[in-house]
Amino acid sequence: MSEPRKSIHGQWSSRWAFILAATGSAVGLGNIWKFPYITGENGGGAFVLVYLVCIAIVGIPIMMAEIMLGRRGRQNPINTMGALAREAGQSQLWRLLGWSGVIAGFLILSYYSVIAGWALAYVFRAASGVFIGGTAEGVGKLFSDLTGDPERLLAWHTIFMIMTMIVVARGVRGGLEKAVRFLMPALFVLLLILVGYAMTTDAFAQGMNFLFKPDFSKISGNSILIAMGHAFFTLSLGMGAIMIYGSYVPRDTSIAKTTFLIAGADTLVALLAGMAIFPIVFANGLEPGAGPGLIFKTLPLAFGYMKGGIVIGVLFFILLVFAAWSSSISLIEPAVTWLVENHGMTRMRACAWSGIVTWLMGLGTIFSFNYWSEVKLWGKTFFDLLDYLTANIMLPLGGLFIALFSAWAMSRVASADELNIRNEWGYALWRFLVRFVTPLAVIIVFLNAIGVMK
Ligand code: PFF
Repeated sequence: MSEPRKSIHGQWSSRWAFILAATGSAVGLGNIWKFPYITGENGGGAFVLVYLVCIAIVGIPIMMAEIMLGRRGRQNPINTMGALAREAGQSQLWRLLGWSGVIAGFLILSYYSVIAGWALAYVFRAASGVFIGGTAEGVGKLFSDLTGDPERLLAWHTIFMIMTMIVVARGVRGGLEKAVRFLMPALFVLLLILVGYAMTTDAFAQGMNFLFKPDFSKISGNSILIAMGHAFFTLSLGMGAIMIYGSYVPRDTSIAKTTFLIAGADTLVALLAGMAIFPIVFANGLEPGAGPGLIFKTLPLAFGYMKGGIVIGVLFFILLVFAAWSSSISLIEPAVTWLVENHGMTRMRACAWSGIVTWLMGLGTIFSFNYWSEVKLWGKTFFDLLDYLTANIMLPLGGLFIALFSAWAMSRVASADELNIRNEWGYALWRFLVRFVTPLAVIIVFLNAIGVMK
């Protein structure tokens, strides 16, 4: 390629700005809300181990590939795939990969915002002092009262969607990039405090055993698929979010190094969340498989008993909201850039449209916790189905095609040039992983989950 492309939306101010934004996208509800509850539902240690293996052999190579494609294409994921496919002499059908990402982003944000709304609601609950001296039963009831009330859920979902769209309308580099700079470290410190509290309960060892001692009898083909899906979800992979963030990355930034930093921070936050939550679960005789309400039913117990619990509780939920906020903007960014680039909309208008569509779709998730809680397809509510379809099917499929494109369709010269890994062996390892290991792993996990392989 003669001249490297430039994104019309600008560029990150520095390598650190990109690292912070991408970490902001990766670290979110997936780490603190979802990781503990799916770990609880899937039996603990063995699931965590599979998840860690997926991060290493699937997540990290695909994150590098996705940033690489984004930086080479420098447009929204649909056009980037179109441009890179043309350059590689391949079919324009590769644009579909961009499309599936834009759609997955809409679908995920529609429920993500509802859950972020729970976190918003809990900021006020923590502040009111209702958690003080609470029992597992009382705290559980507070949660079911919230999810059973569609009007309240709708109000919080609406507020969160407005928060998200305001930031996206101002351009990703505006306020949030600055806020994330100190909020992320603060979240980390608070998680450490919570782990410290968990150590004082008499179930710390039990919690750690649950999290880190693998018992493979507890794991099925489906739970392996969930672990892999979560590796994609937690790193924001397979849907163009990291691709679009990659499109704003300066040419001289090392993609490999930044990927390790982002994936490392993301994994650490998830493990800390697990270490904080499971001891509290066992100390209070709760069920690790309690489902999506797990952190909302356990952490308030800790805030209710620890010294300074009100302040720590309020801070924790505020930081959780911020973590969700910096992720949600990346979920909608691919759609917004597509509307701006391909439909000539202003950023403002593009935000309004995509925000309204997502907000409306969120109603389905809201109702699946109350009016429609008994409406099930394949044993799943609307919310469960949406989550399963996006995280466990769309994102891994997106990742599979990202791997196939970067390792088979794109020329070796182009990927080597863009990744610019100084160490020859490092590049060879990456290429081997995305060429063979990652695609095979994804395919085997799919086949295993649908029971083709036993
Ligand atoms: N990685 C985010 C989390 O763990 O909460 C969720 C997410 C954000 C998924 C952006 C996908 C995405 F493109």
